[in-house]
Parts: sequence; C-alpha cells; structure tokens
Amino acid sequence: MSQESSQDRRIEILFDAEKIAARTQILAGEIKTAGFADLLVVPVLKGSFVFGADLLRALHAAGVTLEVDFIFLSSYRDTTSSSGQVNILRDIETPVRGREVLLVDDILESGRTLAFAKDLIAARGAERVATCVLLDKPGGRAVEIDADFRGFECPDVFVVGYGMDLANRYRELPYVGRLV
Ligand code: IMP
Ligand code: MG
Repeated sequence: MSQESSQDRRIEILFDAEKIAARTQILAGEIKTAGFADLLVVPVLKGSFVFGADLLRALHAAGVTLEVDFIFLSSYRDTTSSSGQVNILRDIETPVRGREVLLVDDILESGRTLAFAKDLIAARGAERVATCVLLDKPGGRAVEIDADFRGFECPDVFVVGYGMDLANRYRELPYVGRLV
C-alpha cells in the first residue's frame, strides 16, 4: 500500500491522482451521454471544490456546455443520534426554474447533504436534478439516496485529500487517503 506523509501524519493512499483523473474523464463521458441541455453545475462547498474544478474541465473536454454556481452547505453530524441538520451557508445566485442541474459533491455518506440540496433545487422548480459524487460510502447511509454518477465506492474510513479535510487541513493533497 503506498504511503505519503503530510503535515507530520502518514497517509495511506486509497485513490491516487492518476486514478481520480481517469475516472473523472469517464464520469464526464457518462454525464455527456445522459444528454443534459442548458446544464447548471453546482459543486457543494467546501469539500467538492477540487473535484468540481476537475470535473468541469473534463465536461468541457467531453463537449458539454455548462454554467457554474456554488452552494456552501454545512452538515452537523451527531454520531450519537441520527439527527443531522444541514444549513445553507451560501446559496446559489442562479435561478433554477426549468433548468437541468448537476449537483457535485465529494462524498456521499449519510446522504443528508445531497438529499437536502436535491430537494432544495427541485422545490425551486428545476426541470431535472442529477447528482455526481467522487466517493460513495454506502455503509453510512441514513437517508435513502443514491448518486446518479459516482466515481468510486469508498471504504468506511475517514478520508482526506483532493478537497476533503480534517479541520480544514489536507485539502491540498492531490490524492485521497486515510490518515494512519
Ligand atoms: P453526508 O451528508 O453524511 O452524506 O455527508 C457528506 C459530507 O460529509 C461530505 O460532503 C463531506 O464533506 C463530509 N464527509 C463525509 N465523510 C468524510 C470523510 O471521510 N472525510 C472528509 N469529509 C467527509
Ligand atoms: Mg462536503
């Protein structure tokens, strides 16, 4: 297993930069094939800013015309109960009525974040709301939701890198890994 070190911690690499890049290209092709028109891509901040940036460029390379806006959500996860609340810290500015929207997130775990975002955009009258996540941890689901497009299934461990953090550290790593 390949390891790196960052900020004095050793990190076991689960998905390296090449693997992520190759998968992102395939995802972009799948999204292209799904035939979106007038697509608004909405990365969910903060965690998806790196994946979102790479996916946007892969979509461009695949010939998808799009617009981008961002939503910043925070989820407070209480490990002792199933009550998790999602708050909007910064909303999109773009009207979505009649639009096709692709929500992009780093990880789908309990499903609360993506379910909240999907319901919000749908309630505003979007014509179609699809979701794309880099990682899926199906073992952690509290809400019934699946991503329409997903990069990799991720083991049930806390991961960092490629936008994902532990207390805002490790987002800069070009790979996804596990602190060991
Ligand atoms: P959900 O609402 O439980 O699906 O939460 C998904 C969000 O929790 C993701 O967008 C991440 O920001 C965060 N998250 C879940 N698992 C991890 C992890 O292993 N590392 C870093 N962030 C995580
Ligand atoms: Mg997130």
